[in-house]
Amino acid sequence: MSTQGQQFAFYDLHPPMDDITAEVRSGMLESPKKLSPKFFYDERGSQLFEAITRLDAYYPTRTELSLFDAYLEEITQTIGYHSCVIEYGSGSTLKIRKLLQALSPSAYVPIDISKDFLLTSARALAEDFPALDVFPVCADFSQSIALPPQTDGMHRVGFFPGSSIGNFEPESAREFLARVAGTLGAGGHLLIGVDCKKDTKTLELAYNDPEGVTAQFNLNALVHLNRVLKTDFDPEAFAHEAHYNESSGCIQMFLRSLVDQRVDVCGERIHFGAGELLHTENSYKFAPVEFGRLAASAGFDIQKRWLDSRGYFGLYLLRAR
Ligand SMILES: C[S@@+](CC[C@H](N)C(=O)[O-])C[C@H]1O[C@@H](n2cnc3c(N)ncnc32)[C@H](O)[C@@H]1O
Repeated sequence: MSTQGQQFAFYDLHPPMDDITAEVRSGMLESPKKLSPKFFYDERGSQLFEAITRLDAYYPTRTELSLFDAYLEEITQTIGYHSCVIEYGSGSTLKIRKLLQALSPSAYVPIDISKDFLLTSARALAEDFPALDVFPVCADFSQSIALPPQTDGMHRVGFFPGSSIGNFEPESAREFLARVAGTLGAGGHLLIGVDCKKDTKTLELAYNDPEGVTAQFNLNALVHLNRVLKTDFDPEAFAHEAHYNESSGCIQMFLRSLVDQRVDVCGERIHFGAGELLHTENSYKFAPVEFGRLAASAGFDIQKRWLDSRGYFGLYLLRAR
């Protein structure tokens, strides 16, 4: 598509179904049984996440947006104009709009696993920014991703908001960041939002909202798998739980089986005892010094760091070495 010379090209690098089947089956053999948080996200899951970001209890999005508002000018001065912005897990593209307005980049590459939502959001964004080339890439960002060739030679700026870095296990977080540093190249920037450690009550409320939206989001992983892999999970036979594990510094999200049951998972009858937990997400929280160490170990220098006045959330501008 081309509007006033604007380029728009979609790259579908979604992992093959066989890989997804193998991953889900292997998670069912673990103890506790496990699903990757990426399975929350089909179109409905992306919509539910958007609804979560508007909840009173969910402080991260509001806090991160207030940091953008306060420091966008400083961010722009540090990064400069006409770059290529690559967003990992672009979702609703709400946050990136502010950044695009300020940075006036030449190209934007939103990467997301949720294909339909990605395409709809990217098309809407391309219409609103007619001078911007937009190259959506549907891919699993936990694997290496070849960027669209149109972006070769541009100054690259990664954007990874929403504390999604906390969904990786610590060693995988380092590997992910090191891969991003390689993709951005020496001198490339990464603007990343990171949730801070804080009191258990605030953290647990954010993942156990009274409206029950996070519960629906968690259960949507089962609905999603039933649709794409023809599993036969009964979402009503599971209940949402989220706890803060203080010793590992992470929110752990589960689905608890309410009854003794067997579920067909890709041709295998998987037994869930009554009360058994299925682990669906970890969300690690980082003290600023801990995140600083992680970034350094992955090949980044911290150029700037901003925290809100309560110390709830951190925004870091990193530079690849
Ligand atoms: C927590 S939401 C954050 C959305 C948005 N960036 C924000 O900050 O509000 C995570 C986003 O990453 C996407 N996502 C999750 N796991 C992914 C994966 N392994 N690969 C690619 N995208 C993924 C989801 O579809 C979703 O849009």
